[in-house]
Amino acid sequence: METLMKAMVYSRYGPPEVVQLRKVPKQVPRANEVLIKIHATTVNRTDCGFRSANYFVTRFFSGLFNPKVNILGCEFAGEVEAVGSEVLAFKPGDRVFGYDDSAFGGHAEYKVMAASGALAVIPDGMDYIHAAPLTEGSHYALGNIRAAKVKAGDTVMVYGATGAIGSAAVQLLKYFGAYVVAVSNTKNVDLVKSLGADDVIDYQARDFTQTSRRFDFIFDAVGKSAFGQCRPLLKPKGVYISTELGKNSENIFLALVTPLRGNRKVLFPLPAINKADVLLLKSLAEQGLFTPVIDRQFRLEELVEAYHYVETGQKTGNVVVGVHRS
Ligand SMILES: NC(=O)c1ccc[n+]([C@@H]2O[C@H](COP(=O)([O-])OP(=O)(O)OC[C@H]3O[C@@H](n4cnc5c(N)ncnc54)[C@H](OP(=O)(O)O)[C@@H]3O)[C@@H](O)[C@H]2O)c1
Repeated sequence: METLMKAMVYSRYGPPEVVQLRKVPKQVPRANEVLIKIHATTVNRTDCGFRSANYFVTRFFSGLFNPKVNILGCEFAGEVEAVGSEVLAFKPGDRVFGYDDSAFGGHAEYKVMAASGALAVIPDGMDYIHAAPLTEGSHYALGNIRAAKVKAGDTVMVYGATGAIGSAAVQLLKYFGAYVVAVSNTKNVDLVKSLGADDVIDYQARDFTQTSRRFDFIFDAVGKSAFGQCRPLLKPKGVYISTELGKNSENIFLALVTPLRGNRKVLFPLPAINKADVLLLKSLAEQGLFTPVIDRQFRLEELVEAYHYVETGQKTGNVVVGVHRS
């Protein structure tokens, strides 16, 4: 007989209210998959993007008219409940965390996933609430830092240093040996310093473009600046990356054109994540070099409220959702 589980389901694109609590069949893992009992997940900007489909281009991945995947939640932490016959890397009872932005499924009591995917055992001593937000913002940060080829000693500005991506970027850039200047608002100055920023520009107290410093890399982690505005702050071979398309999608165009000129350029990478990345993030968490910032916590049944909060664009770090009580 089919077993049912609770899940937050959506079947059409739209505002947070398109997501509703339903009972759906619990999946059975295939030979190469694990079944994970989800203890914690997050609501992040990736989930928001796939739910709203406000950027039409995302529909080429998620379904042109209606979503192909009906349960979002790309980031999760939980316990392996069962494994397929070919799985050797995990066993029932393993505490795991991971990322899945093709099948999603974290906004439910259970999800299945290929054992070879972006999945790893949770660092010793870390609870599910802290393990769930280890991957989303951090892998975007990691992908962009790698694209910019950041080296030890480079001077980097992180604009929007307290979002999920920005707060991970500050910590990862310190790991790569960069000198980090973070831009944040007044109330978050102490937070970004605690993440390791070498210097902080409070954008409410002064215009960040007036700094006399010059940068190898400007990473706008919240997509609120423009290349034209930041260009004078770049060193001659400096790189600008924004996590947003920019006005009239200019960052795509600039990423095609500016590298041809050979000096200050815009890049627009599409970061991906694999098992090696998850293992790196795990190792950094174990060494105390990366700790995801956690803002509010919600329950699975409160997902609509969580979406509304995340879509204010003002969360600090990550919004975590408790599913099964641990
Ligand atoms: N390209 C991709 O594949 C991709 C994937 C995921 C997300 N994104 C985009 O990446 C961006 C960041 O995502 P996220 O989850 O890290 O964001 P987030 O957590 O929602 O960012 C919230 C933070 O943004 C800061 N902020 C808001 N308005 C600001 C402003 N005008 N100037 C400076 N900082 C401001 C706030 O910091 P303060 O309180 O210090 O102001 C707040 O802490 C979003 O725009 C999202 O759509 C892109």
